Amino acid sequence: MTTTTAAQAAYVVAALLFILSLAGLSQHRTSRSGIVWGIAGMVIALAATIALASQSITGTGLVLIAVATALGAGIGLWRARVVEMTGMPELIAVMHSFVGLAAALVGWNGYLDVEARGGAQHEITGSLLGIHHAEVFIGVFIGAVTFTGSVVAYLKLSARVKSGPLMLPGKNALNLGALAAFVVLTVAFVARPHMGLLIAVTVVALALGAHLVASIGGGDMPVVVSMLNSYSGWAAAASGFLLDNNLLIVTGALVGSSGAYLSYIMCKAMNRSFISVIAGGFGAPAVTSDDTDHGEHREISAEDTAELLRDASSVVITPGYGMAVAQAQYPVAELARKLRERGVEVRFGIHPVAGRLPGHMNVLLAEANVPYDIVLEMDEINDDFAATSVVLVIGANDTVNPAAAENPTSPIAGMPVLHVWEAAHVVVFKRSMATGYAGVQNPLFFRDNSQMLFGDAKQRVEDILRSLDATDAAAPAMAGANR
Ligand code: TAP
Repeated sequence: MTTTTAAQAAYVVAALLFILSLAGLSQHRTSRSGIVWGIAGMVIALAATIALASQSITGTGLVLIAVATALGAGIGLWRARVVEMTGMPELIAVMHSFVGLAAALVGWNGYLDVEARGGAQHEITGSLLGIHHAEVFIGVFIGAVTFTGSVVAYLKLSARVKSGPLMLPGKNALNLGALAAFVVLTVAFVARPHMGLLIAVTVVALALGAHLVASIGGGDMPVVVSMLNSYSGWAAAASGFLLDNNLLIVTGALVGSSGAYLSYIMCKAMNRSFISVIAGGFGAPAVTSDDTDHGEHREISAEDTAELLRDASSVVITPGYGMAVAQAQYPVAELARKLRERGVEVRFGIHPVAGRLPGHMNVLLAEANVPYDIVLEMDEINDDFAATSVVLVIGANDTVNPAAAENPTSPIAGMPVLHVWEAAHVVVFKRSMATGYAGVQNPLFFRDNSQMLFGDAKQRVEDILRSLDATDAAAPAMAGANR
């Protein structure tokens, strides 16, 4: 068997492992094995690619590849070890930007290697050359859009720029104009390749990527993250065509289509139109200051919350981004366990975009060993709030905002939310009256049945646990004294 045949066979095995990986990652229970399949696939893919490359590259070239691989692996391992769970979306956005940049550079390399030299030395002629022109152009376009889009997403997710939407006049016309320019430039480039055209499409695509993501409001960022994931897949597939690498085409298509499907699920969860998201045009202005007088909020102490929980028959916990920041999942799991031991029905209500990643809350709760059967999706729990004694909102804000359901002028109007306000009592754990990620004030905090428990969520839950323990310890003593 020649090296080429062995490498192509290894590519098929790697592609199958990537499919197994995706299947594993679709469920919490199997996600660890999904990661292992993915790692195995990537190791095989890298080994096969280096073996293929070694046929035509020797000496310094191979040393450079080894150094680049070691450097990349080292940086990847280091970042993955130190990243906080709350920093994952930013990390993913940065990685998408690398894929985009790589695809744009591969496109440029394709041009410099083939078109700029007439294509003859690669024996690419006739209609094949035309296809190559299109591959170069489309690869550079998708790559550059993904690159700047991901950089802006990173800046927004890491709060380095404001998460609100950029509202340039005629923003939809700008996006459509950029797409039209891309089509015209592609036709011109395929007819007569020229570096000026490639520079023009690179600039248009870089501007379009930045504008698409900048014009999307904070509350809609989850969809943007999965959309960029999809774009990065298509960018990789475009590179695969240019590099004549089947595995890159298959892997890119897997990432592109699964990312597109995830975006579709997210859009449904947030009641957004998929088409308008792809067009980057639906970001309604987020209000950072709201003039509406919502009235006064009431505060509650940890001891009184413990009292409320002691008398409750059913409790629903709705976690959000603040639980992740505070790393409160362990005491929260302990609280759920204690209450269940006392015969209280405890369940968790998970909003599909709670936190900063799809499945963010599920991962944290699984980490803290909360039983899967008491962790319910929003649709499974939303009808039960009216019959719930106490809801504990742990560091969630936008995902429990009644304005989304009741105020058609709200920037998050129409986004399905957890109907926590229907419960008899709601206790909101947060540090201040600040708004959530979407920058929208939350009328829940001012409702008659709501009380605010201010402070770090982990510390406050631990205070509640202490309070419950203290009364447990006091109860037998009291009983003894009364006897
Ligand atoms: P958010 O609306 O982001 O609100 C989180 C709240 O947690 C904040 O109001 C904050 O209030 C509080 N908090 C922060 N640190 C805390 C701590 N140490 N202890 C207690 N509270 C703390 O949360 P959410 O309800 O989970 O909504 C998620 C939002 O992020 C949505 O708008 C969603 O669209 C967006 N988003 C989601 C994703 C995905 S895929 N899930 C990706 C990007 C964006 P204080 O500052 O007053 O404490």
